Amino acid sequence: MLSYRHGFHAGNFADVLKHTVLVHMLDYMIQKDKPLRIIDTHAGAGVYKLNGPQAQKNREFDSGISQLWESGPQPKAVARFVEQVRHVNSGGALQLYPGSPLLAQTMMRPVDRLFLHELHPADFQFLRDCMRDDKRIRVENEDGFAGLQALLPPPDRRALVLIDPSYEVKNDYQHLVKQIVQAHKRFATGTYAIWYPVVLRQRIDEMELALKKSGIKNIQLMEFGMQPDSQEHGMTSSGMIVINPPWTLWAAMEETLPWLVDTLTENGTGFYRLEQLVAEK
Ligand SMILES: C[S@@+](CC[C@H](N)C(=O)[O-])C[C@H]1O[C@@H](n2cnc3c(N)ncnc32)[C@H](O)[C@@H]1O
Repeated sequence: MLSYRHGFHAGNFADVLKHTVLVHMLDYMIQKDKPLRIIDTHAGAGVYKLNGPQAQKNREFDSGISQLWESGPQPKAVARFVEQVRHVNSGGALQLYPGSPLLAQTMMRPVDRLFLHELHPADFQFLRDCMRDDKRIRVENEDGFAGLQALLPPPDRRALVLIDPSYEVKNDYQHLVKQIVQAHKRFATGTYAIWYPVVLRQRIDEMELALKKSGIKNIQLMEFGMQPDSQEHGMTSSGMIVINPPWTLWAAMEETLPWLVDTLTENGTGFYRLEQLVAEK
């Protein structure tokens, strides 16, 4: 299977939301002295050349990161994310787009550890080269869910988990919920961030319902859509579901989501959702 390559989508509107949330959570979680275990179950290639053949095919970044490169005053969380992308581009023109592994590598401290999983053989090679010999980082060519279970609970009882599958098979949605429930049993106080695409709304409704029924507490959902739901236009919207989010995330998203709608969508077609799916207690 494994036909998905993130290089075709790097820096698109979905990455913008996902990585803004990720950067915000990392900023918050590295403030405490204790080491943080960062686990990226579906890591991708690490970094993407926006002038390369994959990104150039549909130039999805044109309606994502490129728009933020040009825009004026930004919400704090967006500005912080763009700052990280500028850092990767050494302050110059936008040529490289950092994936979640490179964002985490750039922001983590010497005491933190990053565990990356990538199944696609070519993207695994790119990822390994991208991370070079950083002793804080382990890169595995293995199933991210199996890797996740083996890494929980973390020794210092602090973890940020990013679950960002390619959803190539219909069953992925149910599989993901089962894996989250299992991970949460092993380590209930971890922060878990799950990315989802809206291609068929029913799948997301079912996933939300399954999470609500799972008994897991403190779940927030943030979604940004370019167009209303449709079964003909591929991914029209995408979101993040975060279990045990930093308390600062909600306010950051209250500021960020309407701004993304205004900045990235035209003719009033965009929308957002910000919801407490399950209460804290
Ligand atoms: C959406 S991309 C990841 C993007 C990356 N997290 C980022 O934000 O830059 C999903 C990746 O998961 C990989 N993948 C698919 N199934 C996997 C599995 N079971 N375990 C690990 N990686 C997998 C795909 O090859 C693809 O590169």
